[in-house]
Amino acid sequence: MTHIEKRLTEKNMKLLKMEVIQGAHAGEIYRLEVLTENGENTSLIYKEFASERNNEVEIFSMLSSCIEPFSKVITLWASHPQAILIDDLGSPLKNEFSLLSAQHKKALLEKVLKRFAALHYSKVNIREGLKVHTLNSVWLEWAKNQLKRLCYECSWAESNWSKTIEQTYTKLNVTNYKQKCPQVITHGDPHLENIFYQDSQVWFIDWEWAAKSSPLRDITILCQDIYDPNLIQFISTSYYKKLKNLAIPFEDYLQDFNYFYIDHTTMMLAWEIEKFFLGYTSEGQIQEIVEFKINEIIKVTNEQIKWST
Ligand SMILES: Nc1ncnc2c1ncn2[C@@H]1O[C@H](COP(=O)(O)OP(=O)(O)O)[C@@H](O)[C@H]1O
Ligand SMILES: [Mg+2]
Repeated sequence: MTHIEKRLTEKNMKLLKMEVIQGAHAGEIYRLEVLTENGENTSLIYKEFASERNNEVEIFSMLSSCIEPFSKVITLWASHPQAILIDDLGSPLKNEFSLLSAQHKKALLEKVLKRFAALHYSKVNIREGLKVHTLNSVWLEWAKNQLKRLCYECSWAESNWSKTIEQTYTKLNVTNYKQKCPQVITHGDPHLENIFYQDSQVWFIDWEWAAKSSPLRDITILCQDIYDPNLIQFISTSYYKKLKNLAIPFEDYLQDFNYFYIDHTTMMLAWEIEKFFLGYTSEGQIQEIVEFKINEIIKVTNEQIKWST
């Protein structure tokens, strides 16, 4: 009996089938078909953490009451090998989002934003142990290296991109930015592969980077995965209305949006290039992704400079 079968047996479940979910994941992720003690077949996800990427275990222990309404976690194993068992939520929004009509995209985004508002309004005591997320130079340095690698490999990659991003960080002093909005609990990585829609509800997985930060932290990670300036504008406007009870001055909201959007677009630019080098993205796709993200960084930088002078 494998350790996974043993763990399921302890929960009165019998393993029927098991398949690996392929992808650039930090640990091992399996889709399991199990027989429950009620005699029902059900599909579950078992995520086993790599030893240096196990922060999610601590986050779940620390924030369980806060996370529970947003995630269908069944069980967590804190002993080696650390793992979680979650309901199978189907396929992430990433797979279908681009195929939806503009109207359906907005309707779905409204539901996602409603869930973010509920999370960001969470009244749970923000525990001392929970880290504070602030902007720094880590993503800038990673993106500069990745763009350099891309220039060696692809003739369409422009050698000045790295400098352009560096200038943004310098001009706006991104690495020393202090958030303007109140500190809330944030998920920390809600791109469309970590968001699901099931049973008329939006769900979030992958809480590894949860931390105290600006509510704009989550919104801008979502935005960098949307690739449509109208929808990005829609998210920004719509989310401000959802936060009205926090009484945030609009200038503060906008400034957090711009700074966090720049840093997260830079982060995901680097990660998207990594996925290209790992073979998960075609050259045509990565060209579109990189060009869109660089243009967004330039656009928002210019808006922020214009607006603050
Ligand atoms: N509960 C779930 N239901 C359905 N698919 C899931 C679930 N959990 C994980 N997955 C699949 O596995 C992928 C990676 O899981 P995730 O927890 O985000 O790991 P990582 O930290 O490596 O990103 C997700 O994008 C999704 O495709
Ligand atoms: Mg993930």
